[in-house]
Amino acid sequence: MERRLARGEDIPALAALERACFPEGADEAMLERFLSDGRHRFLLAEEDGTLLGYAWYEFVLDEGYVGNVAVAAEHRRQGVGRALVADMLSDAASLGLAFLTLEVRESNLPAQSLYRALGFLAVGRRKRYYEDNGEDALIMVCDRMPPADPDFEEPETVHEEA
Ligand SMILES: CC(C)(COP(=O)(O)OP(=O)(O)OC[C@H]1O[C@@H](n2cnc3c(N)ncnc32)[C@H](O)[C@@H]1OP(=O)(O)O)[C@@H](O)C(=O)NCCC(=O)NCCS
Repeated sequence: MERRLARGEDIPALAALERACFPEGADEAMLERFLSDGRHRFLLAEEDGTLLGYAWYEFVLDEGYVGNVAVAAEHRRQGVGRALVADMLSDAASLGLAFLTLEVRESNLPAQSLYRALGFLAVGRRKRYYEDNGEDALIMVCDRMPPADPDFEEPETVHEEA
């Protein structure tokens, strides 16, 4: 398994997996915006050019907000999700973020178990957060950040058109 930051040419595969996992997930246009706005970080796992999974988060000052983590159904329970969340925490630590937070469906025990295994704690609840079925979201936070990656390179500054 190889892991790296996503690039523009990964968008169709990312969007296909996002659609497969989240009916209301980001489409290609949204992913394209996220990849180029300098406020989002996209990590992916692949094998022989096939996308296994991805994780992305948004950062504002020293705060990180996880958007989604997804692993293709046929590649689950093989450590891909764990590797991606660990990468995301290391990436966030290298950017100097103080914590990562996320919302997860109350019924999504696999994801909660993954996040707990990587140091996230449930700290609150958003009532009826999900519009499709009125389900509550658990708010989870990890503020025990791993050490920064010594090989980390700052992302390129994005120059927005005036
Ligand atoms: C949640 C998800 C990303 C986990 O990815 P994964 O690659 O299967 O996870 P891993 O194999 O790395 O598992 C790591 C740990 O997570 C937990 N876990 C993962 N899947 C689980 C399951 N089905 N049931 C219980 N625990 C589970 C376990 O603690 C596991 O460690 P273990 O294998 O040593 O027991 C994957 O199930 C997925 O893509 N689900 C659909 C999308 C989704 O719900 N994303 C989260 C949105 S907030």
